[in-house]
Amino acid sequence: MKKDLLTFADWTPEATTRLLALASEIKHSPASYSQVLAGKSVVGLFEKPSLRTRVSFEIGINKLGGHMVYLDSQAGKLVGREDAQDMAANLACWADAIVARVYSHDTLLQFSEAARVPVVNALCDRYHPCQGLADYLTVFEQFGNTTGRTMAYIGDGNNVTHSLLIVGALLGCNQVVVTPPGHEADAGIVAHARTLAAQTGATVTTSNDLSAAEGADVIYTDTWLSMGDDTPLSAIKETFMPYQVNEALMAATGASHVMHCQPAHRDLEITGSLIDSDCSLLMQQAENRMHGQNAILTHLLSS
Ligand code: CP
Ligand code: NVA
Repeated sequence: MKKDLLTFADWTPEATTRLLALASEIKHSPASYSQVLAGKSVVGLFEKPSLRTRVSFEIGINKLGGHMVYLDSQAGKLVGREDAQDMAANLACWADAIVARVYSHDTLLQFSEAARVPVVNALCDRYHPCQGLADYLTVFEQFGNTTGRTMAYIGDGNNVTHSLLIVGALLGCNQVVVTPPGHEADAGIVAHARTLAAQTGATVTTSNDLSAAEGADVIYTDTWLSMGDDTPLSAIKETFMPYQVNEALMAATGASHVMHCQPAHRDLEITGSLIDSDCSLLMQQAENRMHGQNAILTHLLSS
């Protein structure tokens, strides 16, 4: 039966740990994996803009011996021209996997149902699992482990927050999520992360108070306005500005490193000087996108 990767929510700690180890192995021994996708074709369907995800998938698939066909729906919605399930069934006639960045998680569920090939979530409104995997590979490389570490996410409770919560809980990393009131992470996903964390001994804390981030090893932030959210910046800037990740916050929490999935908005959710500082892991995260995704594709397509 074909497997998908729409979210890590239904994964076990053991399987997630194995996937992280595979990502690290592919990163360090690329020659051993240069043919795992030989002769295989992947469709990358993007309803929203992308720099990192698109390029890291395309180059990464190439490094595994396969190739990607990029479908750009930014000029006009592809999903809408025909039903999502018809489109996915057609794509599966030619492709060995579908990588999709979509507005709605429901679209991915429709793709998954209709396509007889694996579907990989390249970001939707609820999750960004490929980002989460790359980020914990980065934490693992930086600290030598994920278990017992503490990541504090500060900002808007969004798709990236949700995947960090889930993957972090599976890998034993304590989670602190600090958001302005009214911008919390989804309560159901937080509750699910707690059930996963109970299996690994990790803790999940949510707060509107920045002091909850004290003692974290790493501070993480993301844009205050995700793609598809048309709220003007002026309407939320005052609410979010006290939650800016800056040098003073790093000092107050004692965190040694800062992370951001990018694209970053300098001097809004994070100061430009912090991005450029020695404590920034942003480029390591970006590089690890490719290795994490190659592990996902290897797992889905070669077993
Ligand atoms: N982090 C991330 O997904 O970047 P892109 O939106 O550029 O793909
Ligand atoms: N939360 C952001 C992540 C971008 C990679 C968004 O959905 O736009």
